[in-house]
Amino acid sequence: MRIPTGIRGLDEMLKGGLIPSRTYLVKGNAGCGKTILSIQFLLEGARRGENVIYVTLEEPADEVIENMHFLGLDVTDNIHIIDASPTGDLSIFSDMFFENLVPDVQGLKSALESKLEEIRPTRVVIDPITMLEIASKSEVEYRREILILCKLLRKFNVTTLITSQKPEEGAEDFIVSGVIELLTYDVKGRVIRGIRIKKMRGSDFDSTVRPYKIKRGGIEVYWTESLFE
Ligand SMILES: Nc1ncnc2c1ncn2[C@@H]1O[C@H](COP(=O)(O)OP(=O)(O)O)[C@@H](O)[C@H]1O
Ligand SMILES: [Mg+2]
Repeated sequence: MRIPTGIRGLDEMLKGGLIPSRTYLVKGNAGCGKTILSIQFLLEGARRGENVIYVTLEEPADEVIENMHFLGLDVTDNIHIIDASPTGDLSIFSDMFFENLVPDVQGLKSALESKLEEIRPTRVVIDPITMLEIASKSEVEYRREILILCKLLRKFNVTTLITSQKPEEGAEDFIVSGVIELLTYDVKGRVIRGIRIKKMRGSDFDSTVRPYKIKRGGIEVYWTESLFE
């Protein structure tokens, strides 16, 4: 059984989609389309009548909704949003501003857990996980936090995407079942975008860098084309 991402071309690269109940990492620089890809993944679930959760840690929820609307991606009611962005209700940084200079991820974790229990989603996105790293006191603590999170999501059998804008490999690369990279190349002043599946445990996949475009309707991957030919 596979979970289609809903992104044209990417599902072909994944030989049908993602293996369910696992966590995957989507990596790439700011502006490469991680949030768009995430929302498309959730909309695909919503379209199939599933409940899904979007946790935003950086961009305020209303801005995400507005940006997606501009692209023709309308966030529907069965996409439940947890706003843990710096200005959101569940910000992990609010304590840091007001009280003890220590970010608090406990509030976010319990909010997520009660939402998981309440709506039993099939898909979850945490966008971006980088904020959790910033909120952790040490690398060890970050690893612990991310492991606890992955275990929690696994317990509820959800297929999860976490996004990261960190170019180098970190704890998250090793914990997840698969890594998808969004790459940008500057060719004579023009931005060329490419997508690559770097790792996918338990599955055959296309490891070639394929071109993709961001346009109305979201990301489209040209899975029969190669970027370097
Ligand atoms: N209508 C549009 N047409 C083409 N590209 C767009 C459009 N809207 C946004 N984009 C592209 O999407 C990018 C933002 O995508 P986003 O998913 O927010 O990136 P990330 O989450 O990786 O930072 C912008 O940098 C821009 O290049
Ligand atoms: Mg984003």
